[in-house]
Amino acid sequence: MAVSIAVAKETADYEKRVAATPETVKKLVALGASVTVEKGAGEASSFLDKAYEAAGATLATSRGAAISNADIVLKVQAELGDLEGLKKDAVLAALYAPYQNGDLIASAANRNIIALSMELVPRITRAQAMDVLSSQSNLAGYKAVLDAAEYFNRAFPMMMTAAGTIAPAKVFVMGAGVAGLQAIATAKRLGAVVCATDVRPASKEQVESLGGTFVAVQDEEFKAAETAGGYAKEMSAEYKAKQAALIEETIAKQDIVITTALIPGRPAPRLITAKMVESMKPGSVIVDLAVESGGNCELSEPGKVVVKNAVTLIGHKNVPSRLATDASSLYAKNLLNLLGLIIDKETKSLAIDWNDEIIKGIALTKDGAIIHPNFVPKTNAAA
Ligand code: NAI
Repeated sequence: MAVSIAVAKETADYEKRVAATPETVKKLVALGASVTVEKGAGEASSFLDKAYEAAGATLATSRGAAISNADIVLKVQAELGDLEGLKKDAVLAALYAPYQNGDLIASAANRNIIALSMELVPRITRAQAMDVLSSQSNLAGYKAVLDAAEYFNRAFPMMMTAAGTIAPAKVFVMGAGVAGLQAIATAKRLGAVVCATDVRPASKEQVESLGGTFVAVQDEEFKAAETAGGYAKEMSAEYKAKQAALIEETIAKQDIVITTALIPGRPAPRLITAKMVESMKPGSVIVDLAVESGGNCELSEPGKVVVKNAVTLIGHKNVPSRLATDASSLYAKNLLNLLGLIIDKETKSLAIDWNDEIIKGIALTKDGAIIHPNFVPKTNAAA
């Protein structure tokens, strides 16, 4: 029988995105799937029910009605409530924030759900079109610069006018991964003078290619600091101290600092102390994109914009959701590409290849158990 896919409405705070768009629904229908969309699911991201209907979806008046017969449920953020009422062996593909949500993973296992965690898509070429961290971080990096501009009482570009010259804004981007690189590009486009730092040596060239200046202690440890997956690793205390001194010096000269530094599975590294904030000029702005992972800045607060020592600290939660239409479009395409991998083109039914590297990377639970090596409870792993 043709695979049945449900798109449920998001329920988390600060979440305006949706996991499928009329465009991806149309493609799923063309693949032979039957698609049910919970009424109003796309409203917050400007995708209306009638557009989903025109794309071939059936509308369901409640979440329960949408998901009860689904083989696959698509969501942006998985929550405990999403597991209720799902069929045995149904797939729930979503963001699980797996390192923070042990209960959710355990519950998915108990309920015999196949939990596919989209943030764990491996960073291999074949999986790039499914890489939600990249698609969402890119937008967050862009929006972070606009958020900074909103609170910055000065202009970004240099302006030479009859009344005098305005100096360009100085922007410092900390963490030059996907979000950071987009922040650099965006700040440059607005006319700022940009510098950036990262612990991954490979980022130096990328920063420079965007017209930014690279700031980092470039010793032997730095040269060796990158894991096989391309992620940052935790640095030694000694390196952190040297780097902190350089950062302290750099931060005091900036107008805007955008922090994006993350280490998968660990709290975000603390890069800006209260003392560093104090050293900044009045009117400076800090945007902490890592605020939900513990924060890169000691003084930023999740979900708030606060002013401390005349410096504005922006700690918006869920920044991709602040560009909900684009973020949904890209996320929905990431999911569509994943579904292409787990729906058999001939039989049009669910067919998961458990030996596929991508599936091994993202599958948290199956057959009533946690199967992902990073999340198997310690006692079981030992046994
Ligand atoms: P992320 O979101 O995990 O972290 C953001 C950035 O913070 C990273 O560049 C990281 O090195 C940096 N960081 C961590 N600790 C830091 C510290 N103490 N000080 C300064 N910076 C620190 O990383 P993201 O953006 O997801 O990208 C990680 C890497 O993966 C990048 O090299 C990216 O280009 C690569 N990538 C590869 C893909 C592929 O091959 N398919 C797809 C997407 C990204």
